[in-house]
Amino acid sequence: MAKLTALITGASTGIGRALADEFAAAGHDLVISARDAMALDRVAGEITAKFGVTVTPVPGDLAVQGGGTALAAAIAARDLTIDILVNNAGVGAAGAFAGSDSAAQLGMIDLNDRALVELTLVYWPAMLAAGRGGVLNVASTSAFQPGPLMAVYYASKAFLLSFSEALWEEARGTGVKASCLCPGPTASEFRQRAGTDKTRLVTLGTPMPAAECARLGYAGWAANRRVVVTGGRNRLMAALVPFLPRAMVLKMVRGMMAPL
Ligand SMILES: NC(=O)c1ccc[n+]([C@@H]2O[C@H](COP(=O)([O-])OP(=O)(O)OC[C@H]3O[C@@H](n4cnc5c(N)ncnc54)[C@H](OP(=O)(O)O)[C@@H]3O)[C@@H](O)[C@H]2O)c1
Repeated sequence: MAKLTALITGASTGIGRALADEFAAAGHDLVISARDAMALDRVAGEITAKFGVTVTPVPGDLAVQGGGTALAAAIAARDLTIDILVNNAGVGAAGAFAGSDSAAQLGMIDLNDRALVELTLVYWPAMLAAGRGGVLNVASTSAFQPGPLMAVYYASKAFLLSFSEALWEEARGTGVKASCLCPGPTASEFRQRAGTDKTRLVTLGTPMPAAECARLGYAGWAANRRVVVTGGRNRLMAALVPFLPRAMVLKMVRGMMAPL
């Protein structure tokens, strides 16, 4: 495969950090982003030392309106071209919608949806014109059904799955890839940050290592698979959910997201 440059958001830790290894191992140069500039510098050093590719850290906050556009402008100011866009940065917020923090809920939409649409608006047309590269969107198994007690997060991931599948169809036959990675529970800082470590979700099994999730995500993207669900049990649930009574699904998810 030709050497391309991949922008990976949320690459300072977790799944994004592991995806950075996958794209670097495939020989691509990287632009990595997150808010923590020191963590990004450390990650850039580690990846360059291990894979010998060029890694440029560009810090930025994507949970503010215009964050995606501002990040793209900061990348353009460094004269960098992006061929592959990995929209990975995301946060969750567990708890009932009533009484939740409005800034956290709206910031989640800005980060999980708006910023990645902003970034895709910037890079997607050039990918189609060049007939190469593509996007890898990191959604979640949350995308397949509504999420009582984590309503906005689940809805934000449903938006991303829908957006991503539509791009896959629009890119058909162009050589440009569009994959949506839907991880189930994965070992990272996500649980603590989102507060799902205090829900019944944690009783449902051991999270998948982030490196395994990223390996599956990269392989799925390289094969231009429209949707990549990690883990056999998650794939089975995602396939079954459309055929189950919605009221039953809602009750099941509510039980899973209930406080311990
Ligand atoms: N872990 C899971 O169980 C799981 C399951 C399904 C889907 N996912 C999805 O996988 C993706 C990665 O999550 P993860 O598990 O790797 O979580 P994580 O360990 O918490 O990492 C999140 C990454 O996003 C960055 N980030 C957070 N807020 C940001 C902001 N406002 N602006 C820019 N970057 C920001 C973080 O860096 P900074 O804090 O330095 O900004 C970090 O690099 C997310 O989209 C998540 O929804 C995770």
